[in-house]
Amino acid sequence: MPNSNVIKLAPSILSLDFTNLSAQLSEVEQAGADRIHVDVMDGQFVPPITFGPVIVDATRASTNLTLEAHLMVNNPERQIDSFIDSGCGIVIVHQETTTHLHRVLQHIKSRGAKAGIALNPATAANVIIDVLEHADLILAMTVNPGYSGQEFIHSVLPKIEKIAKWIDDDGLNCEIEVDGGVDPETAALVAKAGARVLVSGSSIFGSDKGISAAMKEIEEAAAGSC
Ligand code: DX5
Ligand code: ZN
Repeated sequence: MPNSNVIKLAPSILSLDFTNLSAQLSEVEQAGADRIHVDVMDGQFVPPITFGPVIVDATRASTNLTLEAHLMVNNPERQIDSFIDSGCGIVIVHQETTTHLHRVLQHIKSRGAKAGIALNPATAANVIIDVLEHADLILAMTVNPGYSGQEFIHSVLPKIEKIAKWIDDDGLNCEIEVDGGVDPETAALVAKAGARVLVSGSSIFGSDKGISAAMKEIEEAAAGSC
């Protein structure tokens, strides 16, 4: 919840070295990652195609951490069950990809997984207000989805503040997570705005300092701004 001061990190395997999957997952696990973020792209909702359940199976076998599937796919209803069957404990769907968001959230939860809603930078917070109580997390995209290594979009910060206030005011048990362009500098900004779960790809796996040092730096910057 936003009023907690615990920062959780969710390294994104989109930037991981797949020739070294198991060792890199062990490293983030030992460095205190809370969960592993799996970016699923279908070549339709976003241009690239990335992972399907086969890769999730390999990831599942290589870590004890919770896996969260970030579904950047049209018609997510068709994909949810196979990602849960492959061991994802959290499934996040984009509001922009379904006209039946309430039903999708209920379905994910009925399968025993946690349900998240992702919002593109251009999507207003208001579209989720009537389903907020049914969501376990809101993923505020701080880049346009599709690629790692993009520049953080600062204009998303007021949206994070707005959602954090709704959650606090209503006493909801819903996490705010951010995804895209998170580094030590922007981690401090999103934490100040109310985010407590931070996805990071290139700033962790591409860091010259090494995975653990990069994670520590992001976590400390965020924790210092809660
Ligand atoms: C982008 C993905 C992100 C991506 C973040 O569409 O949803 O999870 O991996 O990468 P960085 O942290 O490099 O911006
Ligand atoms: Zn993502």
